[in-house]
Amino acid sequence: MDHAYDKVFRGTAFTSGTPQEVSVWEDCLFCLDVEGVIRRILKPQDADYSRILEAYRDTERFRALAEGQYFLPGFIDLHIHAPQWAQAGTAMDIPLQDWLGTYTFPLESKYADLDFARKVYQDLVTTLLANGTTTALYFATIHKEASYLLAQICADKGQRGLVGKVVMDDKEQNPAYYRDESTKAALADTEEFIQRVQELNKSTKQGVYPVVTPRFIPSCTDEALTGLGELAKKYGTYIQSHCSESDWEHNYVLERMHKSDTFALHEMGLLQDKAVMAHAVFLSDEDADLFAETGTAIAHCPISNVCFSNGVLPAARFTQKGIDIGLGTDISGGFSPSLFDNIRQAVISSRMLEEGVDPSLEPPERGLPHSRIGANEAFYYATAGGGKSLSLPIGQLEENYVWDVQVIDVNAPNTRLPIFDSGLSMEDLLHKILFLSRPENIREVWVQGECVHKRI
Ligand code: GUN
Ligand code: FE
Repeated sequence: MDHAYDKVFRGTAFTSGTPQEVSVWEDCLFCLDVEGVIRRILKPQDADYSRILEAYRDTERFRALAEGQYFLPGFIDLHIHAPQWAQAGTAMDIPLQDWLGTYTFPLESKYADLDFARKVYQDLVTTLLANGTTTALYFATIHKEASYLLAQICADKGQRGLVGKVVMDDKEQNPAYYRDESTKAALADTEEFIQRVQELNKSTKQGVYPVVTPRFIPSCTDEALTGLGELAKKYGTYIQSHCSESDWEHNYVLERMHKSDTFALHEMGLLQDKAVMAHAVFLSDEDADLFAETGTAIAHCPISNVCFSNGVLPAARFTQKGIDIGLGTDISGGFSPSLFDNIRQAVISSRMLEEGVDPSLEPPERGLPHSRIGANEAFYYATAGGGKSLSLPIGQLEENYVWDVQVIDVNAPNTRLPIFDSGLSMEDLLHKILFLSRPENIREVWVQGECVHKRI
């Protein structure tokens, strides 16, 4: 028998289209083409539902979820330092500038060794997939070979990886043992890296992409920043960096450039629709407007922001301004590889920014009015918001989006979620899943229609 669809999945799915609302597809059929794209979603009441179900249910192309299992979109980690996986969980109490010099640069310099890089990167990509992360926007290190190896490992393991070779060319600011040899070499290495990863992308189903990656303004000369802006334009690549993360970094840029880092990055051609800036905790209103105008997205890293920013991103306010926001783990500024953990922290941190008891007081007695975000917003940031930030058809379970999903089992052995009320609303069920799931509850992970992780 001829089959029009490559695969058909049956089950109940949660998805997000706007920050406030979650949609539920109850007992639907998700019909994929060979590219792993959702071509049709059929509801039980649709005329074709029974016909498609009968045609596929006894074939290898069909997969039905068991009782207590649900589809969630795969998560999109919009900011993660792959080499720092080796030090995750350590040094959470040191300010950014000291942490870079004493822990991070010495560790990252070790990735000149490809055997070390392979060991850490393989473990990290496997761990992220097991935590439901189907797409990740990575900082690698200054080394072009180890950075390419990370892209190759994503390609091999089926994760959608966006990878940047980090640029740190300033001789004053970076230690001799860990910096680009020269500005010229930094730009040449970046260009070669872009070309090689664009070539590698052609052999993958899910996509791997090069990312122009100035670490942050303090690491880079003006010449490198401008040159990187030109390379991004020439090759149509993504851009990532850190922006307005800490008082120290923010003030350093003001002193050197006499403007905020947002305006400085814009002048260098580094703010655009495919640009993602990590943190952005201390944006002024003018800075935030420039993010919205240029289509630049924010990677919200709520765990890391507690440690390095001593602050909270006003995510609700920036979303209202029309800025795209996704969630990032910021390993190892953040200790956890899980976006579930970062969803939880995003909600908790927002409550700490909230106004006082009487919101009508002018000026507010404390905090920032309307700062609260709930699980729906945080779920949106981890999925649809990340997809919009990257301008890719990912993060939502809708027709013409890619089949990147995690199968959550609320009855997983030893990690059964506390569900005792048979009348629990679907929204409350999703919130339990978001707040209480552990990696053991993630039974399968799929990227672009291919199974990339299975927990027996
Ligand atoms: N700013 C410059 N480099 C880094 C880094 O590795 N992590 C974080 N969180 N901030 C940075
Ligand atoms: Fe970071």
